[in-house]
Amino acid sequence: MPRPTPSPYTAPAIRAISALQVPAGAAIAGRDFLYGVATASYQIEGATTEHGRLPCIWDTFSALPGTVLNGDTGAVACDHYHRWESDVDLIASLGVDGYRLSIAWPRVMDEKGRRNSKGLDFYKRLLERLKRKGLKTFVTLYHWDLPQHLQDRGGWLNRDTSYRFADYADLMSRELAGHVDAWATLNEPWCSAFLGHGNGHHAPGDSNPRYATQAMHHLLLGHGLALRALRANESSSMKGIVANVGAFTPATDSAADVDAAYLGHTFHNQWVLDPLLKGHYPSDLFRLWPGTEPLSLDGDLQTIAQAVDFLGINYYFRTVVRADGKGGFVEAAPSGVERTAMGWEVYPQGLRDLLIDFKGRYANLPPIYITENGMASDDTVIDGAVADPQRIRFIERHLQAVNEAIGAGVDVRGYFVWSLMDNYEWAFGYERRFGITHVDYDTQVRTLKNSALALRAFLQARHAR
Ligand code: FCB
Repeated sequence: MPRPTPSPYTAPAIRAISALQVPAGAAIAGRDFLYGVATASYQIEGATTEHGRLPCIWDTFSALPGTVLNGDTGAVACDHYHRWESDVDLIASLGVDGYRLSIAWPRVMDEKGRRNSKGLDFYKRLLERLKRKGLKTFVTLYHWDLPQHLQDRGGWLNRDTSYRFADYADLMSRELAGHVDAWATLNEPWCSAFLGHGNGHHAPGDSNPRYATQAMHHLLLGHGLALRALRANESSSMKGIVANVGAFTPATDSAADVDAAYLGHTFHNQWVLDPLLKGHYPSDLFRLWPGTEPLSLDGDLQTIAQAVDFLGINYYFRTVVRADGKGGFVEAAPSGVERTAMGWEVYPQGLRDLLIDFKGRYANLPPIYITENGMASDDTVIDGAVADPQRIRFIERHLQAVNEAIGAGVDVRGYFVWSLMDNYEWAFGYERRFGITHVDYDTQVRTLKNSALALRAFLQARHAR
């Protein structure tokens, strides 16, 4: 039976949702503070074989048995490739200032590095529509969908991939100049390096610490080379990188547990931020993984540590750790704390503390945008509405934490909710719903959750001031 054509989104008829509670007069309530929503190509686009789009490592990885919950793949996802116009309308309807998206590298370049004009047209039209709606465009070049043909030649373990990434950045900044307000080279190199190569939870599925440190080096080198290409081609946009950071606290105040938390911080945060902002890897990383120093050539770290215009910070949770008795750390996973559907602890003050820590640690800390923050919950549509009170509170409390960091002198300029809509949550497939918009994957109907309505009400009130 043919499916009825769904309307792009549904807004429940009669519902009084109060606006997000943000203290009046707070820095985060001001017009200069940017609010946005975020997505990524593989998680929403679908259409993985259309218009010459080449396979990526997530197509390959998700097709392997046992890699992704329920065997889900990104083949259809939110079908955004076909629904982008109404999705842009949906974004605009929220009243946000900006939208963070990513480009699928295998959609816009072929194996020989030549442009794919159909793939490029998709992004040009998308970005034009966003600009026409008055939205600021934050574009990430690499949100994990590495072309499979590059993986076949070693992927991020092959130094050549860093140079291919710079070619891609060069092409994109020539093709899309003027459409982009802020470029991010990489999304979360920690995840690509560690989850992709260190523990095998993500594509390409390797698990070897030596691979992880080398992949990290080539990712960061690719970032630095891409930054040069972006700067050479246009000067009107901001250019930066997005890192995921995590809060670590010791389970007890024993010296061993305190050291375990320090190692967690080193492993999760400084492994990425030290080379970018200090020009060297943290030596204590190699206490955890002796003998895994990456092969780095003269000049690489200078390339990696070039100044950026902004740093994107993605924050989700805290991990309480204790010493594992072997020089490393393990999660202590305390009970009695609030958690999300991912099992992640809700710990807003971790975001504040990390931002303040970074300001003290890095003299050259660039302006910060929170490029992802949000949570998964088991959301269902009942009578046309989706009640997600935990998410509303989550966003409010994290905004408050950002506000406190600003009060302590950290230059934070914006906040993007992860995510605009429910989407393909990597190894968790479609079961984990991070959206402020609910997606029915059978009909592709989008329904604004109460969190979206609360955000919209807050932004409308802010605009009216
Ligand atoms: C981040 C990813 C993003 C999303 C959220 C929940 O690590 O950047 O794509 O999956 O986690």
